[in-house]
Amino acid sequence: MTRKRVAILISGRGSNMVALIAATRAAGYPAEIAVVVSNVVDAPGLARAREAGIATAVVDHVPYGRDRAVFEAALQRALDERGVTLICLAGFMRLFTATFVERWQGRMLNIHPSLLPSFPGLDPHGQALRAGVKLSGATVHFVVPETDAGPIVMQGAVAVSDDDTRDTLAARVLAVEHRIYPLALRLLAEERIRVVDGRCVIEGASVVDDVLVVPKI
Ligand code: GRF
Repeated sequence: MTRKRVAILISGRGSNMVALIAATRAAGYPAEIAVVVSNVVDAPGLARAREAGIATAVVDHVPYGRDRAVFEAALQRALDERGVTLICLAGFMRLFTATFVERWQGRMLNIHPSLLPSFPGLDPHGQALRAGVKLSGATVHFVVPETDAGPIVMQGAVAVSDDDTRDTLAARVLAVEHRIYPLALRLLAEERIRVVDGRCVIEGASVVDDVLVVPKI
């Protein structure tokens, strides 16, 4: 199978991007990063991508104002120029039109730092702390028109402790994000994910029977 050509879309620091780039460089990984695209001209992740020798493109949303369709047409051109067939959103802070999402249906992943469907949208760690959950985590899912929804590919969980703050919880969840995003992209690139009735069925996945019980007493 030829390696899939992936675009990573970022708006910020790009730590998930770095994890994806590193993973795709391992021997036998079924995808390569063809381009990193940012909608923010000075996103710190752009410099990190260049340092890693990855092609970058900026599609600034500002000149397009509220015209998302025209912004997306420019984005689509940047993707076409690099022969991209899969997209990973990694801290990309723009919403897409349903038309763009449908065009990339089943080929565009996002990562969100909560155990979806809990705590979608802004401030997921604050939401988790306010709810008092004992477990939180991260979710890789297919992108659908609704924000932070879509069939779930992979999740990883961490314990929440009584003295966690947004920052401490975010740091622990981020380490999980960096582990699961490359694994989820591998599954997609290897064509091992089938979506059945809105749920992902993963070929060759084994049952996990460890249990994480929190708090430990
Ligand atoms: C991550 O927490 C990701 O889950 C969320 O935005 C953040 C991006 O961080 N969607 P980074 O730019 O990958 O470091």
